[in-house]
Amino acid sequence: GNEPAPFNEYEFPLDSNWELPRSQLVLGATLGEGAFGRVVMAEVNNAIVAVKMVKEGHTDDDIASLVREMEVMKIIGRHINIINLLGCCSQNGPLYVIVEFAPYGNLKDFLFNNRPFGREQDRDNLQGPPSPPAHVITEKDLIKFAHQIARGMDYLASRRCIHRDLAARNVLVTDDYVLKIADFGLARDIQTTDYYRKNTNGRLPIKWMAPESLQEKFYDSKSDVWSYGILLWEIMTYGAQPYPTINAEELYGYLVSGQRMEKPAKCSMNIYILMRQCWHFNADDRPPFTEIVEYMDKLLQAKE
Ligand code: ADE
Repeated sequence: GNEPAPFNEYEFPLDSNWELPRSQLVLGATLGEGAFGRVVMAEVNNAIVAVKMVKEGHTDDDIASLVREMEVMKIIGRHINIINLLGCCSQNGPLYVIVEFAPYGNLKDFLFNNRPFGREQDRDNLQGPPSPPAHVITEKDLIKFAHQIARGMDYLASRRCIHRDLAARNVLVTDDYVLKIADFGLARDIQTTDYYRKNTNGRLPIKWMAPESLQEKFYDSKSDVWSYGILLWEIMTYGAQPYPTINAEELYGYLVSGQRMEKPAKCSMNIYILMRQCWHFNADDRPPFTEIVEYMDKLLQAKE
């Protein structure tokens, strides 16, 4: 018939385990934006949360991805080192997916902005003179960061979840230096992904990708382990850009020939050995996350 456009564009099944009243939610500033999605800060019952939603101009597929991401988060369950689902508003209005808020933002910027040395050199956006670091990050803190991410990834792998874009930009920093892996529930359309396109920060995501993902678009937990090795390198360099002199077309040949990034100056040999194990060309030769966690346990015990 000729009815007016409905207020709620879509209808979602009510899940009373997760549904929160919209009236309890006070939306605030935008934290981040992607091509189709937006993350907004909000307050619910005096707690700060992050709310994921779609932007104007979204397609039905964008809605379907957000629903899928929420359903993946419900199924995966809670772990301290992942961004957990807190609830949703799915009835009588736009879909809001409510997740934990990370007050210190992403790990890449957090490390870079708190470098104990030259922050002028390879900053992406030079916005005035750098202020002194707000947080003092020691080498032991860096190893604890790597340890927490390994525990989060070990949990995700145990729940049969493959991240496919593990990088410091997708790890968030919360109070007391607790790190949480974000965007693990995102549906990534691997077949149509343009690996040569730069992300919003002008970085090439291919530099985190395992050779088999570059070559055959194949992903499993062992390709996440490769990315974890790159993330370790990002941590030990306080947020530097991997392979700064290599372009997208050269990367696969560089890796096939057996070349790898050198040991960062501030990185212990123990951590570099782990990186290199994550970067075995043959995926079966890379350690599983369970072993990485055990290795880091021992490294931290030795530092006590
Ligand atoms: N940016 C994207 N997601 C976020 C979150 N959960 N907390 C803080 N900033 C974010």
